[in-house]
Amino acid sequence: MIREVLRMGDARLWRRANPVTTFGTDALAGLVTDLWDTMAARGGVGIAAPQIGVELRVVVFGFDASERYPDAPPVPRTVLINPLIRPTGVHEESDWEGCLSVPGLRGRVSRWTEIEYEGVDIDGAIVRRTASGFHARVVQHECDHLDGILYPLRITDLHHFGYADVLFPNGLPVEE
Ligand code: NI
Repeated sequence: MIREVLRMGDARLWRRANPVTTFGTDALAGLVTDLWDTMAARGGVGIAAPQIGVELRVVVFGFDASERYPDAPPVPRTVLINPLIRPTGVHEESDWEGCLSVPGLRGRVSRWTEIEYEGVDIDGAIVRRTASGFHARVVQHECDHLDGILYPLRITDLHHFGYADVLFPNGLPVEE
């Protein structure tokens, strides 16, 4: 089911979400379905449970080669619960981000270039991967939502924050 996406200003987006403790339930499967449906309806590449008002540490992200965003490298469709992220290199990279909870805007955010992430799927089975570039950026953006962090909080130079259609008259970077 497509759910309402909370927008910046809603206090629920600033909260730290709770770990999932019970797996393989209909409730968890239903939440994940709603996240995929809502993400697809809004044309996003990722979404976190707090964005639909559910305070659990659940994110989904990924897409196949995208018609909408032909320049974005594909990211495997992934359900990640109770995630942990650590950088595997020293490099950070600055690039544009958007967010379904901050519609119509884009900002430049620095993220680790190479990471390892680990969590579990809806059955509690371990998911562990390394990721770099755009894939790593999406994971870091989504997991930030679980700690009540929206990307504008990470913008260090607000000259690089603005309306998407003004910044990018010829086509927008993705929203997460
Ligand atoms: Ni977001």
